[in-house]
Parts: sequence; C-alpha cells; structure tokens
Amino acid sequence: MKRTHTCGELRSADIGKDVCVQGWVRFSRDHGGVEFIDLADAYGITQLVFDPEDISGGTDKDAISEALRSFTRESVVTVRGTVRKRVEGTDDPKNKTGEIEILMTYAEVLNRSRTPPFELGDQKESVLPGEEIRLRYRYLDLRRPEMNEALRFRHSFIRAAREYLDKSGFIEVETPMLTKSTPEGARDFIVPSRVHPGTFYALPQSPQLFKQMLMVGSIDKYYQVARCFRDEDSRADRQPEFTQLDTEMSFVGMHDIQDMIEGLMAHIWMSLYGKRLETPFERINFDDAMNRYGSDKPDLRYGLPMVPVTDIVRHAEYDIFQKVLSKEGNAVVGLNVKADIAGDKIGRNEVDRLIAFIKKTGLGGMTWMRATKDSLDSNIVKYFPQGVITKLRERLDAEEGDLILMLAGPERTVLASGGMLRAKLAEDLGLTDGNTFKFAWLVGCPMFEIDPASGKKDSFHHPFVMPTTPLDADNVGGASFDLILNGSELGSGSVRIHDPEVQRKVFRMLGIPEEKIEENFGFFLEALGYGAPPHGGIALGLDRLVSILLGKESIRDVIAFPKNKKAQSLLDGSPQKVDDEKLEELQILSIAIGDIDIEDIE
Ligand code: AMO
Repeated sequence: MKRTHTCGELRSADIGKDVCVQGWVRFSRDHGGVEFIDLADAYGITQLVFDPEDISGGTDKDAISEALRSFTRESVVTVRGTVRKRVEGTDDPKNKTGEIEILMTYAEVLNRSRTPPFELGDQKESVLPGEEIRLRYRYLDLRRPEMNEALRFRHSFIRAAREYLDKSGFIEVETPMLTKSTPEGARDFIVPSRVHPGTFYALPQSPQLFKQMLMVGSIDKYYQVARCFRDEDSRADRQPEFTQLDTEMSFVGMHDIQDMIEGLMAHIWMSLYGKRLETPFERINFDDAMNRYGSDKPDLRYGLPMVPVTDIVRHAEYDIFQKVLSKEGNAVVGLNVKADIAGDKIGRNEVDRLIAFIKKTGLGGMTWMRATKDSLDSNIVKYFPQGVITKLRERLDAEEGDLILMLAGPERTVLASGGMLRAKLAEDLGLTDGNTFKFAWLVGCPMFEIDPASGKKDSFHHPFVMPTTPLDADNVGGASFDLILNGSELGSGSVRIHDPEVQRKVFRMLGIPEEKIEENFGFFLEALGYGAPPHGGIALGLDRLVSILLGKESIRDVIAFPKNKKAQSLLDGSPQKVDDEKLEELQILSIAIGDIDIEDIE
C-alpha cells in the first residue's frame, strides 16, 4: 500500500478522491464517539475522521476501531479514505490542508511508538524541553516542523551553491579525512594508526593544504562541502565538527575571489528568496573596524560608531579623564546615541544599567552627557570649558536630545568595551532587525598578531597568506580578508604564498624551528617547489551562514546531529571508552592517571 499523497498536499480540489496517506499520529481526540486524528509527516498535517455512524459501504468498521486502539501518539500508520470538506466552521485557516479531512475507510498501524518524551507539534520555544533532551532524542526533534524546515533550507542552500559553482566551472573534489595536522589555530582530533603503532593521523581542521596542492595539480577551480574538525571549546557558533563551503582558484587576486563569492551569494539569494542581493558588499578596513566598532566582525546593520575624543577631552579639568590620560596608551572615545534612534528615551535608570554593563567589560565606568540645543548637559559638564564642549559637539555630531557616552582607559580595553556597548545598545534599542542581512568584507588585515596570552607572534589568519608588504616591514600586511554578516565572521580567505622560499620565511618568522618546518610542512614546501601557480580561495562556515539566515541562536539548530556544549553526542553517547582489546590492537596503553605512580612509568 503506497501513499497517494503526503500529509501536506490535499486541498479542496481533491474533495471526493480516494486517497492513501502515511505518517505519524500527532494528536487524536474523541468527540462523542467520533475520532479525529492529526496525521503528520514532513510536509504537513492532515485531519483524519472516523465516524462509526458515517461510513461508506464496504468499510470494515470493526477493523478500523481495532486499528485505532493502537494509534498511540507518534505511531506510524497507513490510512485510506475519501477526502471531504470539513464541517462548516471547523476549517483551520492556519493549516494548508485545513479545509478538508479524510473520512477513513481503512487504517493500519505500521509501527507503534513508545510514548515520546516531548510534544512534537509546532510549539513555541517555551514548551520545548531543554536542549539536552532534544539532542538525546534528536530523531524525534527532527520531526518537529521547525527542525525539518531548517534541514530542508540548508539543503536548498547547498544545492543553490553547487549550481552556481558548477556553472562557474568549479569541480567538487574530496580531500582526505585522515591527514596530517593543518594549523588553523585549534587543537587536532587525532586518530591512532593500527598498521603503524604509535603513530597518528589528524582529522583535518580544514582542507587548506590539500586544496592548495590541488592548485599545484592544475585543478584550477575547486570547491567542496567539506567537513572540518577542531578540538576547541564549543560555543553557540562553534562545533567540534562543522561544515565549510570551501573554495580555491588559480591565477586570481583578492578581488576575483570576492567577486566570485558575491556572485555565489547573489545566486543563492535569488534561488532561496527570489530577490536580488545588493553587491558589491561594503569593504571595511581592519583598523577602521577595530577603531570605529571595536570588533573585526562589526554588525553594520546600524551605525553607533566610536569616535576618538582623546585630543579634545585632554583639555577638560575632569579628574577621571585627566588621570586616565596621564598614562601612555590610554584613550577616550565617545558614542553618540542619536535622539532619532531613541537616545532621548534612555533615562537615568537605563544609563545606570549601561554603566553596570561597562564595568563588567573591564572599564572603571562611563561618562555621559545629554546634548541640549546648543550645549551639553550633565553634572560634570562644569569641568568642561566651552571650547571643549563645542569641539565635542562637532566631532560627535551632537544635536538636541542625543545621548553622548564616553569611555576612558587603556585603548585596547576601551575599544573592546565600546564594541560590546555598541552591540548591547543595538539590542536594547531593537536595531538588529532579523530580516536585514548586511554583508561586508573585512580587508587590510595584518599578516601577524601577538597572542595576548603567550606574547608570541602568531598568524592573523593562517601561515599560508601572501604578505602584501616586505616581510621585514614594521607592520606586515597580509592578502587576507573575512566575509562578515550581521556581526558574525562567515568566512575567511586569502591569496596564498606560492613561492616555497617565502613560505619557509613566514614559518621561521612564526618561530617554528627548522626541523619542525621540515617535519610538519616539508611535503607542502616540496609541492610549492614544483611550479605552484599563484592561487587563493576562501571558506565559508556553512552552519553559521545557514543559522544566521534562519535567525537561529545556535548553529546546533541547523545541524542534524550536533554535539552538545561539552562536545558530547547525547544520542549515541560518544565519546566513549573503548575496550582494552581495541587499545591493545592499537598498542595504546590505557591508564587512569589517578591510579598510577609516575615514578613507576619512568
Ligand atoms: P577559518 O578558520 O577562518 O578559515 O574558517 C572558515 C570559517 O569556518 C567557520 N568556522 C566554524 N564554524 C563552526 N564551528 C567551528 N568550530 C568553526 N571554526 C570555523 C567560520 C569561519 O569563518 N582554511 C581557511 C579558509 C581559507 O583560507 O580558505 C579556514 O578554515 O565561519
């Protein structure tokens, strides 16, 4: 018995048809001996009716009654019947099949369900169980329309991306999962080799080195929907196992890569939303992003830039600023919350809350003033000479009703705190419209950065980025860029180094000892030495992109089987201990550190 229709398909035009549907019993109710059932599948919900008083000839009433006894919640069933119009006044306009119902002539349970641990209807967040329960029973969670739609949207996204890339001459090539470590800044997941005891593969943090070697191999337009693995702490937008839309091209510069991605996104936009996406995307310089927005992935849906005012407020007799500015490297910035974005509605209490927020970001506090028609108003304004007030008003473009917030302290902290304040204000004032998508390119990135924890020189992106200035310059630039969307980093790309000597030099500058360069990257340097073409590419975080487009809080909501925040799969219970025999085969010794005396091992 095959279904003739899905549960989302039948309409008034089908009235009178004999049909067969299959799906899960979502809900059932008995109205004085008349049984109503909501039958659900991935496409929708169809109402079934069994009325012992109203059956067509030949229907085995008792057999249906018997079958209905096993129609427990979420059991999977087959039903035949006749489509009919619902009784006047019982239409459900919210449901696309809401005008009809199926009068049952046959019912059969295909497989009974145990009582599900939570309701699978189209509920609001509030009636959903905690995420841990949803992840433990993910296969049930996936029956919820919201999850089902998210996976279908993700599929449509990938399909549209493949369409565009295929049309543009890219080919999809799979790269290995069992590899050598690629430095993308996280820890590797390692896999022991049985054949070569004591040695390990690493799961790829990205296909970076392989896609570059594909370029050496003359595959000049590569892409892959690539699985990547990074052993780093999970966050809302991070998973230990995630997917990139990874690309690489030969004989290109930075603009070619950016043009390609803009074309790709525009194609996806048209395909998913039937709308034109505005390109080219805005380009924002790394230094500007940090100075104006305190972030290398600023949300550009709203303004609220930070404005440097150190040079102006230096001339105020205001103790707090004087003290801060007596130290080298300290700064003061101002933010103008314009009256028209509700600056005039932020009252004393809200300001106090913002001050409490700022204190948590590592600054001592926040100074604030209200712009009047031609001055500034605040209990500390008396310490600010008229000349300072005039300049502040000008610099901050202050008009009547605007709220001026000022932060003072070490420049790095001020910028970071200001960035957080900006994001908080935007959220509080409702400036982050979920239906606005503001893509931008972060450009002009440095080649290196100093890791604040270790004080060591590190790559800003990764070590394969082509330098744009001589390597002995004071501030070495890198030909790398990020794609940002609504305050998230969606992807990063670059033109790569193709000269093995330059690559070796960069490794050295990163303080990698000569023997480690050989051991870890010898094969790669060798590959570059066989006529590697100029090349570059970019990888987009697919999970992030899809989750932002769907307005999800976490990328877990667009991944079929994600790990929880502690990197566990609650569904299958991994990671798990393995049997001693398996470890023996791998020649790995299993010891619980607490049980042993270190001296015994030595
Ligand atoms: P990068 O390390 O910046 O670049 O990664 C590219 C994009 O992948 C996404 N991403 C993640 N998504 C979910 N969970 C994670 N743990 C995670 N880590 C990264 C982000 C990020 O912007 N090989 C280079 C790309 C290149 O140069 O071509 C790379 O992997 O959206």
